[in-house]
Amino acid sequence: VITKIKGRQILDSRGIPTVEVDLFTNKGSFRASVPSGHVTGMYEAVELRDGDKGMYLGNSVTRAVKNINEKISEALIGMDPTLQSQIDQAMIDLDKTEKKGELGANAMLAVSIAACKAGAAEKEVPLYKHISDLSSKTNPTLPVPAFTVISGGKHAGNNLAIKEIMILPIGASTFEEALQMGSETYHHLKAVIKEKYGEQGCNVGEDGGFSPNLSSVQEGLNLVKEAISRTGYSEKIKMAIDVAATTFCIGTKYDLDYKFQNKSGQNFKSGDDMIKMYEELCAAYPIVSIEDPFDREDWEHVKRFSDLGLCQVVGDDLLMSNHKRIERAIHESSCTALLLKVNQIGTVTEALEVVKLAKDAHWGVVVSHRSGETEDSFIADLSIGLAMGQIKTGAPCRGERLAKYNQLLRIEEELGDQAVYAGEDWRAT
Ligand code: PGA
Ligand code: ZN
Repeated sequence: VITKIKGRQILDSRGIPTVEVDLFTNKGSFRASVPSGHVTGMYEAVELRDGDKGMYLGNSVTRAVKNINEKISEALIGMDPTLQSQIDQAMIDLDKTEKKGELGANAMLAVSIAACKAGAAEKEVPLYKHISDLSSKTNPTLPVPAFTVISGGKHAGNNLAIKEIMILPIGASTFEEALQMGSETYHHLKAVIKEKYGEQGCNVGEDGGFSPNLSSVQEGLNLVKEAISRTGYSEKIKMAIDVAATTFCIGTKYDLDYKFQNKSGQNFKSGDDMIKMYEELCAAYPIVSIEDPFDREDWEHVKRFSDLGLCQVVGDDLLMSNHKRIERAIHESSCTALLLKVNQIGTVTEALEVVKLAKDAHWGVVVSHRSGETEDSFIADLSIGLAMGQIKTGAPCRGERLAKYNQLLRIEEELGDQAVYAGEDWRAT
């Protein structure tokens, strides 16, 4: 049973406060912490911050921590940690608000994840196995990693409007091999960038991708293509982009030059122009997935682009992991995959519910990190346990990103000849 819960404030990878929890049972203590992103919108669960400008510029989370140490502790002590849905429901009942604004989704999720880890220990099974038992009971599968190699948008200080360019080692035969391919490509890319843009171009963004000043998406894709060809894995590595188009949508137009002081506002593209650009990109590069190609309220163009069937279309800002928006997108077939950010939901149980929704619609699911991460590797186990086929957790560089990739490596080793790498089956639909 749960004997004690202790919350505390720690810092995330961007140096911003976040919540960490130690949850104690008779089996030991179990630690979890929660990430945070750029996009915090009206559809997400509430990240409770103190808002006192005198403390961490308003970002401290002492109220969320207090909620853990008092109200949540009181409600959960004595509960069986294997009963995940009851634990999560107890917190939901205690919070009583639709978006978890009372206790804070950050407080609730940290406890929910720590309880999940404790539940696995109680059953004496690995975490991914426990997660698999809690849901679909599919066979654990190692996901294809989508490594961020170039960062832009709000995640980097360069000129690139789109948020990131990723590589997917779909043709690897194991996760270990995929990690090697990702790392080698990353380092070849560093050399390519250094040749063309000098040392400064090799600075990295929040997720670890390089951030040279690029005047177009194509320029970035060309660099990555060159790096992949230097590795000799050309046939095995595919590309993906996260456009995060909401960031540069003005009215009904898209400003791909929004980060250029002298060009901003001069080169507006319509939704139709954007579709045309994506068609050209998919024809010229091995792009298999595009995330948020349009503004989050531009349901019309995202559907039209999705209908073309050129690649996987991932809804991140479009869906915000929100139940109602996912249902709408399924109903209108607006996209073909869900980007799952567990902290936008707030409990493990509810995350499993939205995954089920997406899977029943034969969508892909990409388990995702946030730009502000911690060393917690829960999402690695989550992606394996749910056999979701895809994980996106940054560059093969920087500790908070590697915490997840290295955990996947360890689990693959532990599974031995039982290990299955999603590979060509990465969409798992
Ligand atoms: P965020 O972005 O964590 O900064 O919101 C992550 C993503 O869009 O993939
Ligand atoms: Zn995104």
